[in-house]
Amino acid sequence: MRRPKIALIGGGQIGGVLAQLIAQKKLGDAVLFDIIQDFPQGKCLDIAEAAGVDKFDVSLKGTNSYEDLQGSDIVIITAGLPRKPGMSRDDLLVTNANIMRSVAENVKKYAADSIVIIISNPLDAMVTLFQKISGFPHNRVFGQAGVLDSSRFATFIAWELGVSVKNINAQVLGGHGDTMVPLVRYANVNGIPVMELLERKYKDAAKAKEVMTQLVERTKMAGGEVVKLLKTGSAFYSPASSAIQMTESIIYDEKQVLPVCAYLDGEYGVKGYYVGVPAVLGSKGVEKIFEITLNEEESALMDNSVNAVKTLVADMDRLGL
Ligand code: APR
Repeated sequence: MRRPKIALIGGGQIGGVLAQLIAQKKLGDAVLFDIIQDFPQGKCLDIAEAAGVDKFDVSLKGTNSYEDLQGSDIVIITAGLPRKPGMSRDDLLVTNANIMRSVAENVKKYAADSIVIIISNPLDAMVTLFQKISGFPHNRVFGQAGVLDSSRFATFIAWELGVSVKNINAQVLGGHGDTMVPLVRYANVNGIPVMELLERKYKDAAKAKEVMTQLVERTKMAGGEVVKLLKTGSAFYSPASSAIQMTESIIYDEKQVLPVCAYLDGEYGVKGYYVGVPAVLGSKGVEKIFEITLNEEESALMDNSVNAVKTLVADMDRLGL
């Protein structure tokens, strides 16, 4: 049986870590594409030369030719500029939309049957644009944002409570911007509501609420916090790990329930937009969307986030992107 073929479009920071994780986890044969001459070839050679230590037999191919995408089962797209300090994800819209257009045309041409995971920002707009240009069915085009945002939320909760992050279930829904919606009410430690544990810790409901607000705000701004420190680009280790979790669920048909930037066709009262929601990821891509009950406050936050996505998509249309 042949190994899965995973194409990575964009051989920069995230693309490089993706290639290394694919090799170390032996997920499949990877092709790393970039427009910069020799660059993806250099990265792949570097990673491949660790095979003697990491003990993998999968192949890694760096390329500047889209033809090498042929036969890809999964395509992960990171092509595009990252943020610099002071920039919002939306500031990348025009530049990255032009890049995404050419990427989508080539993926359509050379990997028409692939499942596509997009990471490039502004995420919700880039996924929308890719699907529009490629015409791929919606279940095969979706974005990585929620897995990372949720991992950030879970990590901050674990630090605050002094417990293992392995036992934390925390989910962030909505768009991948400042309006994202960390679901406080559903956050739990092995089933115990996080708010209950915070109230016990502080013996004061108001203080517990204040601490949770800080965790939520840090989660929403977590990407910017990293950008501010790095100064030359945006987060890349954690986005790569997050996309790998999605990839594993697809290639092993695990049907993990993950927050995915998925196409909504009436779910959550939204029709025709890509928004972060809990979805079942399997060998067919997005196989099901779970609609969870939101209370009035959560619904209002979700509506606000959906409106931000709608504005971004409208901006793209207005600019003729
Ligand atoms: N086709 C393919 N690759 C391209 C194209 C293109 N048309 N234009 C640019 N690239 C490549 C660049 O050459 C670069 O190597 O995309 C790569 C992007 O890598 P980085 O600049 O290192 O950015 P990275 O940190 O990997 O982030 C990529 O993901 O999280 C988002 O906001 C982030 O949009 C950014 C993307």
